[in-house]
Amino acid sequence: MYVCICKAVRESDLHAACAAGVRDMAALRSRFDIAGGCGKCGREARALLDSYRQQPLGTAANGASA
Ligand code: FES
Repeated sequence: MYVCICKAVRESDLHAACAAGVRDMAALRSRFDIAGGCGKCGREARALLDSYRQQPLGTAANGASA
């Protein structure tokens, strides 16, 4: 599923980045230019980041090991 239609960023792309240690929007923007178009995806991307911030590094937001 695409999170960002403007930049063709998939949810799986964001999960992979977060699993690799990304924890802030600046890093997501640097990698994917997410929210660099219409900006509608920013809220969903931030929610995903928040779910990972509550997890130790190397752990998926759903609790599975990455
Ligand atoms: S949907 Fe991401 S910038 Fe438009």
